[in-house]
Order: sequence, then structure tokens, then C-alpha cells
Amino acid sequence: MKPIVTIILAAGKGTRMKSERPKVLHKVCGRPIIHYVLDIAEAAGSLKTIAVLGYKSEEVKAQLPKGCLTVIQKKLLGTADAVRSALPGLGGFRGDILILSGDTPLLDKTVLRALIARHRKTKAACTFLTSVVPDPYGYGRIIRDDKGMAVAIREDKDATGLQKEIAEINVGLYCIDAFELEQGLKQVKLNKKKKEFYLTDLIEYLSQQGKKVQTIETKECEEGLGINTREDLAFAEGVIRKRNLKYFMSQGVTIADPSTTYIERSVKIGQDTIIRPFTFIEGDVSVGKNCVIGPFARLRAGTKIKDGVEIGNFTEVSRSKVGRKTLMKHFSFLGDALVGDNVNIGAGTITANFDGVNKNITHIGSGAFIGSDTVLIAPVKIGKKAVVGAGSVVPRGKNIPDGRVAYGVPAKIIVKNA
Ligand code: UD1
Ligand code: CA
Repeated sequence: MKPIVTIILAAGKGTRMKSERPKVLHKVCGRPIIHYVLDIAEAAGSLKTIAVLGYKSEEVKAQLPKGCLTVIQKKLLGTADAVRSALPGLGGFRGDILILSGDTPLLDKTVLRALIARHRKTKAACTFLTSVVPDPYGYGRIIRDDKGMAVAIREDKDATGLQKEIAEINVGLYCIDAFELEQGLKQVKLNKKKKEFYLTDLIEYLSQQGKKVQTIETKECEEGLGINTREDLAFAEGVIRKRNLKYFMSQGVTIADPSTTYIERSVKIGQDTIIRPFTFIEGDVSVGKNCVIGPFARLRAGTKIKDGVEIGNFTEVSRSKVGRKTLMKHFSFLGDALVGDNVNIGAGTITANFDGVNKNITHIGSGAFIGSDTVLIAPVKIGKKAVVGAGSVVPRGKNIPDGRVAYGVPAKIIVKNA
């Protein structure tokens, strides 16, 4: 198979985002936009990936995997100029070049593979992705000749009259022969209106030269979304959120109400676990099999929940381990806690894990029973099968041995009568 190299355009500031942060680092469902684009480059089986950086390049570079090469576009002179600055990075490569925009996180791998296959089968000079959208505003429009061949891309700012009505837009994903790209880029002239070199002008040039230009259309128009504004960002978040939930359902997880549930893709969830409405799970959390989570639960990074656990309403668990069949059904917070199996965490239990400087650990042994409205001031240790009475405050440094009972403010261990 012909080798392929990917160029990702990510030098822009993202002016329309009105942000100090580079656009491609804004997050969609917990991941920077550019990570989704890198997934696409990986799906294409790229030999190498070159990211073109400019605005706050060091910040962007820090978020890229080690294997990703970077080049700097010195002045932001448009998408053609961005690709030009990546050419030295190709090192004389001959084959197909995949060009992606750093701001299109919703692209689907299937359509990408179809595009590369079409490009190779038809031996085209360039094949690019189009989409028919309800609102083409802001996108380049596809101009076709009377045979239906794509002959040019007209940018929104330059579109006149009926061209503005064209609903077929340029997504910004191109597969192009390296030689044709190098030759074509030399011919792209400055767009006087925007004072930029448009990569899209390449299409008109290639077609005028009699080179074969092919297109392929997305199945779902949302896939082609380029994030330019905060509204686009929110839209992308909605799409990825639904995709993530679909994935978890395909793995045998019940999601009672997808419209009110948020789970990041980095989460692992076992079969037959039920996620009830208004649940939020983020980061590297893992949840075992046959658990019930929510409604109104938040599981945060660093949390590992074993099988058969119930985490109920108005609860938060952060950087904690929770053992098998442990129950925490109402109004509780576990932070930096190591909780054993079959523990009962009563309503209103709070681990006071932060002393103002450090985060401290709470140990709760298997079979322990923590009464309602208990505050455990970490570091603290509750032994196996120990009982803490309702309303207790267990002070910092306290160690309640296995099987013992403690209660009160501050909690004292009950001494059995002789
Ligand atoms: C671009 C396309 C448009 C297409 C749309 C799809 C051009 C001229 N227009 O428009 O046809 O419909 O994407 O989303 O290509 N970038 C650089 N250096 C620059 C300028 C841009 O690296 O000098 C990067 C940006 O960081 C961004 C990508 O290229 O990731 C696209 O740039 P953007 O300004 O968003 O282009 P659009 O106006 O959306
Ligand atoms: Ca864009």
C-alpha cells in the first residue's frame, strides 16, 4: 500500500473563539480538540504526522504525543502557507499526503478510509471531503461544472450571488499526491480580500491543469463541523457525548437517560452496570460490573470502583478506591479514600481529605459500618468491621481498630465493661 503522511493545520489563534487559549486546545468531552484529529491521522495509518503550529506553539506542542512532528508557521498567512511551511518536514517524501484541520473533531474514520480508498482507486491528484449542511455560512462552497465535477472551492467571503446558496461545503480534509501538492502550492496567490493564501485555491488550479479532482461526501453533516466559535464547541460536545454513551451501551452498560448523562471516553465500565440520570463521570475512572451509579452522582479522576457497588444520589467520589459490594447511597463525599469490600457508608458521610496544604488518605476496612452524618478527618483509619456511630467526627490521626465501635465528637472508642 502507498505510504501516507499527515499534515495537521493548527497554527491559527481561533479569533472567533474569543480566547487566550489556542483553539485546538479547547476541550470537547475532556479531550483537546486536536486529540480527536490525531485519532483520525492514526486511523489513516500515517507514516508520520506533522502538526503546523504558530499561535502559542509551545502550549500546543506540550499536548501532542512524542511521535508527532511539529513545524512552525512564522506568520499566519493562511492555510496554503501553513501547508507550505510543513513541506520541508516531508523530507522528499513521495506518496499521498493527508491534510487535516486541527479544528474538526467530529470526522468519522469510516469516511476517511473511504476517501483514501477512492483517491487511490481513481488515481486522483487530489480527493477531498465535502458535506451538505443546513447552514453553509462561513465554509468554502463547492463549485461543480455541468458534468458534476468539483472544479473550485469558493470561500464564504468571496462567494457571490447564487454561490452563497450552495449547501455543499468543504470540510477541510484532503488527500493529495505529494508532487502535485508541491507544484500546486507554488501557484497559489495571495487572496487580496483576506490577505491570506488559501489552500482551497489549489482545487481550481489542479482542475484547470486537467488533473483529476475527486470528492467524497460525509454521511452525517455534523461530521464536517469545524469549530470556530463557542457555539460550535458546545455543539461538538453534544455529538461526542452521545457517541461516548453509545459506546458504553454497546459494551453492555445501561444508561437510563442519555440526555442527562456525561461519561468521558477514558472511563471503563463493566457489564450490567446501571448509570442513572444526571450522572457525571470524568477522567481515568473505572467502574466494575453490576454497579448502580446515580442519580446525581459524580465520579472523578483516579477513582476505581469494584463490582456490585452502589453509589447513589448527591454523591462525589474523587481519587478513591471502593471495594466490592460497598454501598454509599446518599449525600456523601469520598476523596483520597481507600475503602474495602462490603462497607456501608451512611448518608451524609464526608471524608475531610484536605487540611489546607495536603490531601490526606482515609482508610476504611472491609465490612466497616460508617453511621450517618460522619466526618472522617484524614489521615484516619477505620478498621475492618469497625462501627462509627451516627453524627461522629473522627479526628485526624485516629485509628479505630478492627471490630471496634467508636462514636461522638470527637469520636472515642467504646471500652467494653469488664
Ligand atoms: C477553512 C477552509 C474552508 C473550509 C473550512 C472547514 C481555507 C481557505 N478555507 O476555512 O474552505 O470550509 O476550513 O472547516 O482553507 N490555520 C493555520 N495557519 C493559518 C491559517 C489557518 O495553521 O495561517 C489552521 C487553523 O489553525 C485551523 C485550520 O487551519 O485549524 C483552518 O483554518 P480556519 O481559519 O479555521 O479556516 P476556515 O475559515 O474555517
Ligand atoms: Ca475552521
